[in-house]
Amino acid sequence: MVLNRALILGAIALTTMMSPSGGEDIVADHVGTYGTDFYQSHGPSGQYIHEFDGDELFYVDLGKKETVWRLPMFGELTSFDPQGALRNIAIAKHNLDSLTKRSNFTPAINEVPEVTVFSKSPVMLGQPNILICHVDNIFPPVINITWLRNGHSVTEHVFETSFLLRSDYSYLRISYLTFLPSDDDVYDCKVEHWGLDEPLLKHWEPEIPAPMSELTETVVCALGLTVGLVGIMVGTVLITRGLRSGGPSRHQGPL
Ligand SMILES: *[C@@H]1O[C@H](CO)[C@@H](O)[C@H](O)[C@H]1NC(C)=O
Repeated sequence: MVLNRALILGAIALTTMMSPSGGEDIVADHVGTYGTDFYQSHGPSGQYIHEFDGDELFYVDLGKKETVWRLPMFGELTSFDPQGALRNIAIAKHNLDSLTKRSNFTPAINEVPEVTVFSKSPVMLGQPNILICHVDNIFPPVINITWLRNGHSVTEHVFETSFLLRSDYSYLRISYLTFLPSDDDVYDCKVEHWGLDEPLLKHWEPEIPAPMSELTETVVCALGLTVGLVGIMVGTVLITRGLRSGGPSRHQGPL
């Protein structure tokens, strides 16, 4: 059953626009992918998005039939008719049906996702920050990415991107958690995917640099000073010796 659910065939309509520049080494200044979509038999579900330089511009909510801008201000500058997306999805669905039959119902192969967790800015206690859970190599695009604080599920202040298409036709998805760093809190990004035997927990806790104690500072300072003084002494001795041996005696050697 799981295999059948996982059956997916990428019916991907790709429109890639590149704007080459005058520079010789530079291949493209910017890359926009306007209208990548997929449709899969699990769910069934699909996705239609526009990207620019690897960032999501918008996706079309296929259920509500509306365009959802990544930043609401984009929607004030321009608009996108969701009907275009629905047409593409209908074509993808049609293609999926025929490709499924042609492939003799061969299920998609589950990849193992790669999970990395890091903070947006250097962590400072009491300074609001954002935790980023970067999940790469997702295939098929069916995944749960959730956050745990001290082992308990967190749903507030969470935002996640759509599935962003990679050049190898796997997907990337990023989940963001806005949080207030505290000494007492540890976090996990929990990822569930068919490519994993069990949910993967990627742990994160603030690394607060311990302030150097006064004693350590004094010791480091004294050590530095000692090394410097010894250097000067050894240097002086060497120079003096060099001057002596290089003095008049050199001219007294045999010709
Ligand atoms: C995601 O979570 C839902 C609800 O808990 C669960 O039914 C589903 O199997 C999960 N998906 C994966 C890929 O594990």
